[in-house]
Amino acid sequence: KIVVLDFGSQYNQLITRRIREFGVYSELHPHTVTAEDIKGMNAAGIIFSGGPNSVYGETAFTVDPAIFDLGIPVLGICYGMQLMAHHFGGKVERSSRREYGKAEMNVKEGAGLFEGQPSDQVVWMSHGDHVTAVPEGFTTVATSPSCAIAAMENPSLGMYAVQYHPEVRHSVNGNDLLRHFVFGICKAEGGWTIGNFIELEIEKIRQEVGDKQVLCALSGGVDSSVVAALIHRAIGDQLTCMFVDHGLLRKGEADSVMETFVGKFDMKVIKIDAQERFLSKLAGVSDPEKKRKIIGNEFIYVFDEEAAKLKDMDFLAQGTLYTDIIESGTATAQTIKSHHNVGGLPEDMTFKLIEPLNTLFKDEVRALGSELGLPDEIVWRQPFPGPGLGIRVLGEVTEEKLEIVRESDAILREEIAKAGLERDIWQYFTVLPDIRSVGVMGDERTYDYAIGIRAVTSIDGMTSDWARIPWDVLEKISTRLVNEVDHINRVLYDVTSKPPATIEWE
Ligand code: XMP
Repeated sequence: KIVVLDFGSQYNQLITRRIREFGVYSELHPHTVTAEDIKGMNAAGIIFSGGPNSVYGETAFTVDPAIFDLGIPVLGICYGMQLMAHHFGGKVERSSRREYGKAEMNVKEGAGLFEGQPSDQVVWMSHGDHVTAVPEGFTTVATSPSCAIAAMENPSLGMYAVQYHPEVRHSVNGNDLLRHFVFGICKAEGGWTIGNFIELEIEKIRQEVGDKQVLCALSGGVDSSVVAALIHRAIGDQLTCMFVDHGLLRKGEADSVMETFVGKFDMKVIKIDAQERFLSKLAGVSDPEKKRKIIGNEFIYVFDEEAAKLKDMDFLAQGTLYTDIIESGTATAQTIKSHHNVGGLPEDMTFKLIEPLNTLFKDEVRALGSELGLPDEIVWRQPFPGPGLGIRVLGEVTEEKLEIVRESDAILREEIAKAGLERDIWQYFTVLPDIRSVGVMGDERTYDYAIGIRAVTSIDGMTSDWARIPWDVLEKISTRLVNEVDHINRVLYDVTSKPPATIEWE
């Protein structure tokens, strides 16, 4: 295992990611872990990530100095390098200007860290400070025009450091460097796969849970589905899933969830039919943020109420991913309390959390889901907002309008699948704006709804571009929408990127 310590770089997740791609398990930990903690982790190597601080800053992130004495090789990256230099008595100074972007780097002959790699490399720099004098016992092993000490090492201490970011693709030989550190220097063993993860995790879950009971909120999304399948594999009927159908799911979705988990996996799933309840709460409300709040709160009320009816639930399983933890930037809470003290609700429900996916990235979760036998439609499900169709019916939500969105969305999905575009488009759905327009069908005047098609490409949902669906596919979709969905007489195609628009219309 390679342990990566997080000093706040925006690239820190990439480091663990690259190493796992080599088949070596790697975990990100806060920079506050102690040398004692690391001893218990059976680490073959340690990497210090970059970070925005200056080692001389008052709020500089530090590290337990005993980590340098563990006898485990350390690779410092960017801030990690400066921290290492500082610790061993080298000099770190502020550069006259920040260096950001590509740099040509020259590697010294015989440098242990760069063994077997080209001597001229293009690397990606992003830093304000840099090391201006290496500590005693260290040698400079690479230079670039604006950074005389671009890499340094002290092989007898097992200390290595680079100023650039080997984890980003712009550093052309970055992977070679990481690979050499992991296998050549740390002698880590490869062969880690998602299959190993399942075995290890099952063992962990069994130990943690013992003969206790686990409750899991199943939404039909990838994360909660994979968590449920994994925990079920570990403890079988000690797991109870709760699936709240709020009536804002896509066509056929509730049935398919039940079919998969009850039909195929033979799991205990309690389905709560709460459609009426959500609809009546949403009646008369047209503000998007209010709708979101109502749906979110109602979900918790329903879940709390129903959970309180179940006796003896000790654990609550959650599909928290690695990115969720890193983004929130805090240690995960061990115990959660239901803090929605609304009249009549149990206010002191205490669960212990289990979050078996919290070391995985989304694509790893997908691989895990496939390995566990979940169907592609769940594993490759496109992102779907918690408030569901509630924010795709613009303005007030009514059953009639939900039906239009459900039916039109199903047609869109069918045609996208037929055209083989499912994996090329990040998200695609229909929205019902609150407008009606005049049309003519047969010889009759119509006055009915327009429906919008939203389809976007994206990497992470933060920014997106509108998908260039071929005209003939759009034509087929448009024809089917008007012909097959009642109350639609016009079809719109959204050609806005994000920003300035957002992916959802509300
Ligand atoms: P926007 O519309 O902000 O969406 O560009 C970005 C991504 O987030 C999803 N989304 C939501 N997900 N609750 C969620 O769980 C919400 O209220 C919500 N609003 C938007 C959206 O589908 C897209 O993937």
